[in-house]
Amino acid sequence: MKGILLAGGRGSRLYPLTCVASKHLLCIYDKPMIYYPLSTLMHVGITEILIISTSHDIPLYQRLLGDGSHLGLKLEYAVQEKPEGIAQAFLIGESFIGNDSVCLILGDNIFYGHAINQVIKPTENHIDGAIVFGCWVKNPEQYGVIEFDGEHNVIGIEEKPKFPKSNFAVPGLYFYDNQVIEIAKNLKASGRGELEITDVNLNYMKRGQLRVKPMGRGITWLDTGTPEGLLDAANFVATIEKRQGLKIACLEEISYRLGYISREDIDKLIDEMPESDYRQYVQQLFKMEHLKAQTIPPSLMEHVKDQIELQNTKNVG
Ligand code: DAU
Repeated sequence: MKGILLAGGRGSRLYPLTCVASKHLLCIYDKPMIYYPLSTLMHVGITEILIISTSHDIPLYQRLLGDGSHLGLKLEYAVQEKPEGIAQAFLIGESFIGNDSVCLILGDNIFYGHAINQVIKPTENHIDGAIVFGCWVKNPEQYGVIEFDGEHNVIGIEEKPKFPKSNFAVPGLYFYDNQVIEIAKNLKASGRGELEITDVNLNYMKRGQLRVKPMGRGITWLDTGTPEGLLDAANFVATIEKRQGLKIACLEEISYRLGYISREDIDKLIDEMPESDYRQYVQQLFKMEHLKAQTIPPSLMEHVKDQIELQNTKNVG
């Protein structure tokens, strides 16, 4: 399965923050925003990822993440000059996707929670149809909103409805089979001039090929598209990191724990990092592992497994 990380757009709701800075490089506490959705794709086990952004901003992402090989990833870049809709990602990424299935994540969406890979990762290697999530929120009118019938079947999805038919929003994480390219090609721009991701999902729904998985209270979904969302996300990450002493979305850590890079690779990466809290954190990871092996009784392992996870996650597709 391929991954697409959509990091274009104008970031107009974050004006003037985004006048000269790319939205997805803004800081979420101690890391650039893009680290968080990238870490989610890594948790899913995806290593081939296309980052889509504007021609102006792509050089910045290339400087930050390169070709991804230092993280055991294969990163490619493609341009979306104007924000003509989320679903345009599948047209821009057509040759990258090839005959594969694809997971799309929006660059301003953050997911965090216990055993997140088990919640979001499809169980099958090659998915049929589409998988999206339903997440209970207080303000559904700002999102794609799911409508259910009396038997909990999904009978509609509306993009930013004035009068939402439920509190279940569709977060910016989607899994599609290869039909998505054809579906995107046949979309018509909406009233706001965009190729809507909700129209892609409705298309799958009408074919009887849309699965909506609940994203329960164990997973936190944050949308960082507004100044308030940005601050909330930073506070959220800061609170957890300060309390636990464990970082969220530390890409080097995730890559190491997934078995993509070795201890020697990490040592080289540390050498290249300037003296910083981040460097110190990566350095002390190995001490933590040693400590864990020494002091954590097996009966307590379940509670720390998620944070200090040693299991390798295999690639999906
Ligand atoms: O956050 C989840 C929501 O994302 C979904 O519930 C909605 O169905 C979906 O339409 C989308 O709504 P937003 O209003 O939040 O989308 P926004 O225009 O803010 O774009 C989300 C991200 O995608 C943002 O990081 C910018 C990027 N983007 C967006 C568009 C439209 C692009 O890179 N290119 C684009 O053309």
